Amino acid sequence: MRIERISEILEEGKRAFSEAADEASRSETEVRLLGRKSELSEILRGLKDLSPEEKREFGPVVQGARRALEEAAAAAKERLLVEGRDWESERIDVSLPGADDPLGHLHPVTTMIREIEDIFTRLGFEIAEGPELETEFYNFDALNVPADHPARDMQDTFFVESDGFDTRYLLRTHTSPVQVRYMETHTPPFRIIVPGRVFRNESTDASHEHTFHQFESLVVGETGDVTVGHFKHLGETFFSEFFGRHVEVRLRPSYFPFVEPGFEFDISCVLCGGAGCPACKRTGWLEVGGAGMVQQKVFEAAGYPRGKYQGFAWGFGLERLVMMKRRIPDIRLLMSGDLRFIRQF
Ligand code: PHE
Repeated sequence: MRIERISEILEEGKRAFSEAADEASRSETEVRLLGRKSELSEILRGLKDLSPEEKREFGPVVQGARRALEEAAAAAKERLLVEGRDWESERIDVSLPGADDPLGHLHPVTTMIREIEDIFTRLGFEIAEGPELETEFYNFDALNVPADHPARDMQDTFFVESDGFDTRYLLRTHTSPVQVRYMETHTPPFRIIVPGRVFRNESTDASHEHTFHQFESLVVGETGDVTVGHFKHLGETFFSEFFGRHVEVRLRPSYFPFVEPGFEFDISCVLCGGAGCPACKRTGWLEVGGAGMVQQKVFEAAGYPRGKYQGFAWGFGLERLVMMKRRIPDIRLLMSGDLRFIRQF
């Protein structure tokens, strides 16, 4: 065994690894120089037949050469890996702004419903709900709306194909049917609000939409306990809180079959404070909905004895309030699904 041969193998091996142009030839070199059948392995196996002195002399040299070649093989592997990378495609422009991570948010109508629910919950109200697909009975009959009332007309109401059912179905035109539904299963005293979606079969413009929201309120107690004064005060409290400024309420006589007396419910203009501006058509007042003392016939439809209870109800349009609060000029924007609009809120 010659020491020179071992250095030759080592030198040749180092060169072969450093010159390997791809992984295939590198690994071929590795097998040839370090594999079981390689000259070096042969020499290693032969060490055991040497005399102790020779072992001491050759052993470290052979082992050292093997370790050096293994390192050269590993270094070549690393080099080829780096050379093989497509740096151009991996280029990162660290000056680019971070990726946007868009997060959805609530629709302004939903936000407003929650705000309203918060205020009324603090005032001790419960929140009730009813179906959007309603029967003609709850939407009209139980509310004392006569059979020939124009509101039932196909012009105003979306009737739903109801063949085979013993009642006619429709898309509720207001949240008032929930009054009767709620009273059927509850006994006064109670106070509730009913936010919900309603539908009207009408042509649309900047202030009319076929699909919109109302929030109904119903407060009922023993006769004598609940008066018009209460609901005027409640309205003032709610709207002042809602708009964050003092709001006056004005009631004008009006007619709805399910209340007696009935009122149009106006609030002092929240933009001009009642002085008169374009938003309130210079009147100083904004109409927000209908209201009144619950008709005894409605109590009867719910199964209450006539004369035992007294209460008030109102139904306010929600979009109107959203539009005033957020300064939105056209009601149709709210249901448009136009993200350019929605993203502003
Ligand atoms: N339901 C009526 C409407 O939609 C509003 C209303 C509710 C009036 C309650 C009086 C009492 O126009």
